[in-house]
Amino acid sequence: MCGIIGYVGNKEAKQILINGLLRLEYRGYDSAGIATVSPDNVLNIVKNKGRIKDLMENKNIDSLKGTVGIGHTRWATHGIPSETNSHPHVDQDKLFTVVHNGIIENYALLKDMLIKAGYNFYSQTDTEVVPNLINYNLKKEKDQSLESVLHAIKVTCDELEGSYALEILSPLIPNYLIVTRRNSPLIIGSGHGENYVSSDIPAILSYTNNFYLLDNNEYAVITNNSVEFYNESLTKIEKEVRNIAWDMSAAEKEGFDDYMLKEIFEQPKSIRETIGSRLLNGKTNLPDFEISEEKLKEINKIYIIACGTAMHAGLACKRLYEHLLGIETVVEVASEFRYKDPLVDDKTLCIFVSQSGETADTIAALRLAKENGATTIAITNVISSSITREADYTLYTHAGPEIAVASTKAYTAQIILLTILAINLSETLHMNLVLGTQLKQELVEIPSKVEKILSNIEPIKNFASEVYKETDSFFIGRLEDYAAALEGSLKLKEISYIHSEAYPAGELKHGPIALIEDNVTIIGLITNPLTAPKTLSNVEEVLTRGAKALVITNQIVDQSKFDLVYTIPEISEYLSPVLSVIPLQLFAYYISKEKGLDVDKPRNLAKSVTVE
Ligand code: G6P
Repeated sequence: MCGIIGYVGNKEAKQILINGLLRLEYRGYDSAGIATVSPDNVLNIVKNKGRIKDLMENKNIDSLKGTVGIGHTRWATHGIPSETNSHPHVDQDKLFTVVHNGIIENYALLKDMLIKAGYNFYSQTDTEVVPNLINYNLKKEKDQSLESVLHAIKVTCDELEGSYALEILSPLIPNYLIVTRRNSPLIIGSGHGENYVSSDIPAILSYTNNFYLLDNNEYAVITNNSVEFYNESLTKIEKEVRNIAWDMSAAEKEGFDDYMLKEIFEQPKSIRETIGSRLLNGKTNLPDFEISEEKLKEINKIYIIACGTAMHAGLACKRLYEHLLGIETVVEVASEFRYKDPLVDDKTLCIFVSQSGETADTIAALRLAKENGATTIAITNVISSSITREADYTLYTHAGPEIAVASTKAYTAQIILLTILAINLSETLHMNLVLGTQLKQELVEIPSKVEKILSNIEPIKNFASEVYKETDSFFIGRLEDYAAALEGSLKLKEISYIHSEAYPAGELKHGPIALIEDNVTIIGLITNPLTAPKTLSNVEEVLTRGAKALVITNQIVDQSKFDLVYTIPEISEYLSPVLSVIPLQLFAYYISKEKGLDVDKPRNLAKSVTVE
């Protein structure tokens, strides 16, 4: 959701900015733009609605001269997608140009004030108040030096409410880029004679592995060979550069048609790496997480809080937490949790799951839990992401960069890590050790079971080619199969735009069955011996009403009754979603391909939802 890129160096900025924007495409966007300041101090801006490709073909693109510049992919919040509303934005005197990720909540008030002070606006965006307010505040400074500009920016930020990652470029200080952030992501890449700014690490990974992380309300003043940091009150501070070991090949397609397919196929590796050394000598080993037995014994409620796919990973593990630990475990959507006045206190353990570590609602929920005294754990895939800076403990999924908007390998890695955490807690409590031991054995075997599924994709591909024109689909299952059904259904609707719902199989009769007719596909998940006969007969019921049926199972099923029975390896019910989701990911992928859609960048969706 909105991507930011910046460059100050010794090379032409334009191409580097375009490359960065291409890498940020996956975040989701509807327009894009770049601004540079040329060696003779001329500010040039080129922007348009549409894709980066359109920007590259823009008739004015060659006007972008200079070795310092900023770029942006916009995901519209205030104002329709249009050239006018695209970033970068400028103030009325063209002294400042700004790109922004986030939402300025009090922009209407500020705009009103500025209009009364004689300022003109051209767009419907919240962002346009920022350069104008800097312009307005600079007039109160003694001059237009770097120091005064920085102070005017600080005063401006003090007046802003909401969230922002901002890059500010000005012909007044042509060799400098000033950046700041509050609750929106922004990192600085450090090179030799050049420095970079980005919303995330993969976008600039081909240039550097060294990064500075900016905290909320901090400022960085960047030139080609220096990065200076200031805190909220503009006192100079020092920051350490961090080396991030991801390599570029991890963020490339490596011969796959799409990132999503590559990421689906990476799951044996991402699961292995997430397990890593966390299972050692028959025990779990979580050196980054040490909670005492006394403290844990006081915990009487566990929350797993997240959004989207990460929330589905939580749902897949809910029963496991309850059965292993004997503690009530509630899985909550972060955007609900933060407003519901939840029953959370110092006896609550809150686990926040977020691939990006930047989801605005998840971070807000984390803050609320902390205010109420809860012990908080972040499970995330992105090193040093915002969530890691606020949670009491952080555990990383080692899934590697996930580029496709539809999350796949992050989901399975999240279930693996949530499971290891549950076993770890049970070991500390000396509870249900037999179940824990069985699960540890199963965890080790999972990567090769996933490989087995991935070596048999043809049946799913063929079934997708038979049903891709259908208009509705229902995913059904019981218990963990229902949790996996939710994720399979989300995948399908996200990338194929087919109407899709997931239901607990027993609920089908209470309404949805009225919708079953010829153009409906039903996907039944059947991996739990206890509930298998029930769910099988639920699928049969819809078959007799004209639907086509895919059954994903590891039970004995009469193949002749259904359009496709896809068999997955045996696995504990608690871990079954890790396997059953794989054919569902592939099903969604091949349907989307059959329909000729952009698998990696589905319409209207963003990889990381950094605004409410
Ligand atoms: C967006 C993404 C989903 C993701 C969700 C939560 O909706 O498109 O793939 O599951 O945000 O993101 P997070 O980074 O917090 O896991």
